[in-house]
Amino acid sequence: MRALTFQAPRAISLESIPDPRIEHPRDVVLRMQLGAICGSDLHVYRGHETGLDVGTVLGHEFLGEIVEVGAEVETWKAGDRAVSPFSSSCGSCSFCSCGLTSRCSNGAVYGWVAKGEGLQGAQAEYIRVPFADASLVAVPDDHPAEEVLLIGDILSTAYFCAENGGVQNGTSTCVLGCGPVGLLAIQAARELGAAPLIAVDAVPERLELAERFGALPVSFERDDPHAFVARHTDGRGVELVLEVVGNAAAGRLAYDLVRPGGTISAAGVHNEEHFPFSPGAAYDKNLTYKAGRAPARHYMERMLGLLRKKRLDISPLLSHRLPLGETVRGYEIFDNKLEGAIKVLIEP
Ligand SMILES: NC(=O)c1ccc[n+]([C@@H]2O[C@H](COP(=O)([O-])OP(=O)(O)OC[C@H]3O[C@@H](n4cnc5c(N)ncnc54)[C@H](O)[C@@H]3O)[C@@H](O)[C@H]2O)c1
Ligand SMILES: [Zn+2]
Ligand SMILES: [Zn+2]
Repeated sequence: MRALTFQAPRAISLESIPDPRIEHPRDVVLRMQLGAICGSDLHVYRGHETGLDVGTVLGHEFLGEIVEVGAEVETWKAGDRAVSPFSSSCGSCSFCSCGLTSRCSNGAVYGWVAKGEGLQGAQAEYIRVPFADASLVAVPDDHPAEEVLLIGDILSTAYFCAENGGVQNGTSTCVLGCGPVGLLAIQAARELGAAPLIAVDAVPERLELAERFGALPVSFERDDPHAFVARHTDGRGVELVLEVVGNAAAGRLAYDLVRPGGTISAAGVHNEEHFPFSPGAAYDKNLTYKAGRAPARHYMERMLGLLRKKRLDISPLLSHRLPLGETVRGYEIFDNKLEGAIKVLIEP
């Protein structure tokens, strides 16, 4: 099959590799129908997140048709259409049982193989899915696949980030980062009642979308986010920062914008060694810091319900739809935010 493989930072290539096979009786093999490039793929692509084996197939957002079924799979048969969370989960360990499926004792993130261990990714024609009964969700025929795809990662992540931060009616909230995840976090925070709702980025078309989704936009390059937040919060700072960027500068800005007693909920993936603020600084603000990999599997059915109620505005995010053969270009435009790229979908 054809698959997008990691060779070195900024060196990814479409290779011909053997098709995946059933390796365990609870596996299925799925033929990709729709995938995407995630901001998390960019950490590897940019060389900020290291340790990945050369030749690893990248990507972790996918839906498609089941083509092969392991002997112990009960709920799926060949021909069924399913969407996957971005990490596998067994459904029965203690972490799965309490809803923290992203920390499943038997789970792993797709598209991450290190020292030969891990799961191959989804930017390919086929993918092996472990624990298929526990992890896959059926794709309804009567809802656009490109919306359903997002429940497996970025929509669930956005809700997780907002709920982890404890957004309630009237929670003053600032979303840092208006990429695909941030723009959905803005919608999640708005739905949960955040007010005022402020959004920070520097990319004009992303800030325009943030405003369209109900946030007060501010550029961290052209304007002063501190002064802006102060103006909208009687000088106190926001109660909650949703940090959806994943770098030290954003981590520091989150600290600076949150008020004493406030919370930072970080969905951004960080690769730094240290926090960009000291333990003493955290003490001095009575800070609560929450973070982590979203338990997407735990959110997926609920997110599908939200999509079906048409409470969210998804289509403006879906800027590009490229064939698998153009995935390398897809990374270039998503990384550099060219051609108004927001979310880049991949169609094998
Ligand atoms: N926690 C999880 O489970 C999970 C799941 C999916 C994605 N993520 C992470 O979420 C983050 C966002 O993903 P995305 O797909 O939206 O990526 P993205 O790269 O498109 O979005 C990041 C945005 O942040 C903006 N930005 C950069 N520096 C900033 C700063 N100092 N202040 C404010 N904004 C700044 C960029 O202009 C960009 O628009 C990534 O770190 C990704 O790895 C985490
Ligand atoms: Zn992702
Ligand atoms: Zn588990």
